[in-house]
Amino acid sequence: MKRIAILISGRGSNMEALLKAHAAGELQAEPVLVISNRAAAPGLDTARAHGVRTEVASFKDREAGEQRVLDLTRECAVELLVLAGFMRVLSPTLIEAFPNRIINIHPSLLPSFPGLHAQRQALEYGVRFSGCTTHFVNAGVDTGPIIRQSVVPVEPDDTEETLSARILEQEHATLVHSVNDWAADRLSVEGRHVRVSAG
Ligand code: GAR
Repeated sequence: MKRIAILISGRGSNMEALLKAHAAGELQAEPVLVISNRAAAPGLDTARAHGVRTEVASFKDREAGEQRVLDLTRECAVELLVLAGFMRVLSPTLIEAFPNRIINIHPSLLPSFPGLHAQRQALEYGVRFSGCTTHFVNAGVDTGPIIRQSVVPVEPDDTEETLSARILEQEHATLVHSVNDWAADRLSVEGRHVRVSAG
C-alpha cells in the first residue's frame, strides 16, 4: 500500500478524516507520518491516538523546515504529501521533490478565494455557492491542477463560522476521495487538467 504523510498546522479534522477512513478500511493508502509546523497543534494528539508517528518541523526557517520534511519522508518511504490545513507556503525545493505528489485541500471553489480566510472572502464577495477544492500543489498559492471540487450553498444568514462548518463537512469526503483516486493510480496530470479514469 502506498505510504502517505499528512502535514497539519492546527486542529487536523481533515487529517482525522483520513485516519478514520484508514481505520475503517476505506483508504487505499497508509498514513505513516503526521508532521506539524506547530508543536502545539491539537491534531498531533489525535494522530498519536490513532497510533501514527508524529513529528514537528518548524517553518520559522522555511528551508530548515522543508529539509526536515524531506528527511522524515525519505526515512518513512513516503510517496505522497497531503496538506490538510497546513498553513505554510512550500518552496520549489519541496514541490520539485514531490512532483504532482502533494495534494492540498482548500476551503473554496478555486480559483476563487485563494490564500487565507477563504470562507470570509466568499461571504464578503456575496457568492451564492462556495465549497472546497483538492489540487496538486505547484509553485503558486492554491493554483495547482484541480483534482476534485464540492459545491456548498451560502445561506443568507451565514457567518464565517457556519459557512466554514458546512464546507468542512464536504472537505473530509472530498479529501478521502482524492487520496483514493491518487492511490489507485486514477489521476493523470496534463498541463492544468487532471484526468480521472474510472475504477
Ligand atoms: C480547513 O478548512 C482547510 O481547508 C483549511 O484550513 C482548515 C483546516 O481545518 N486550509 C486552508 O485554508 C489552506 N489554505 P482542519 O485542521 O480541521 O483540517
